[in-house]
Amino acid sequence: MKVISHRGASGYAPENTLKAFRLAVEMGSKDFEFDVHQTRDGILVVHHDFDLKSTAGQDVKIAELDYADLRKFNVAAHFKRDTTTQHAPRLEEALDVIWPAADWLNFEVKNDKNVYPGIEEKLLAFLGSKPGLFERTVMSSFDHGTLRRFRELSPRLKLAYLGHGLSTALLLPAVKRAEAVGAVNFHLALRIAFKLNVQKIKKAGFWVGIYTVNTRKDALRMKEIGVDGIFTNHPDILTLKS
Ligand code: G3P
Ligand code: MG
Repeated sequence: MKVISHRGASGYAPENTLKAFRLAVEMGSKDFEFDVHQTRDGILVVHHDFDLKSTAGQDVKIAELDYADLRKFNVAAHFKRDTTTQHAPRLEEALDVIWPAADWLNFEVKNDKNVYPGIEEKLLAFLGSKPGLFERTVMSSFDHGTLRRFRELSPRLKLAYLGHGLSTALLLPAVKRAEAVGAVNFHLALRIAFKLNVQKIKKAGFWVGIYTVNTRKDALRMKEIGVDGIFTNHPDILTLKS
């Protein structure tokens, strides 16, 4: 079972920052997940939400900021255990940190309602910037249109399905949607990561990853039921006490 650092080692350092990615690498991560957005002037950046409320405490949208302005915000402000200032990194800065260690990368593209038109083309061009990067990448999005556009642009790109508010009852329709777009991975919320659900998805032929698994007990349960990978804020989760 892969142990995938989720937004870097985000249990120990401010999420989706170079500090969190450096720490994940130091802790031995080889598998990485991070969230991608685009600034007003077209720079690909790593951050979770569309706005800076939960990180810098400011009600401002990334889509409405040029990158030079985004850099002025301290996205570590929410992380009280860390008094350093951190900026939302450019995608290429984050990649520079994790690439030497990376076996597997999951770019989660935050593009609800296509708020960043053209981001798919830009990301595909980015994947061509390092030999081997395309092959090690899985592209995911909660936005199905984004997955469809990736598929139209690239028949070979590995895609992962993510579903908002999925329930056990809605799982089979979701599996159909994932199949329709040619996804190879299905990333499922821990909330409904029951053995039968995982088995249903695996039976359809998908690689199954579960987010976000932050206790050792849950991690071991996921291993037991045959999950292929877990997304965790604690890259050392399998050695934690609880
Ligand atoms: O990609 C897995 C997981 O990160 C999806 O949810 O909200 O943490 O980006 P979220
Ligand atoms: Mg994510």
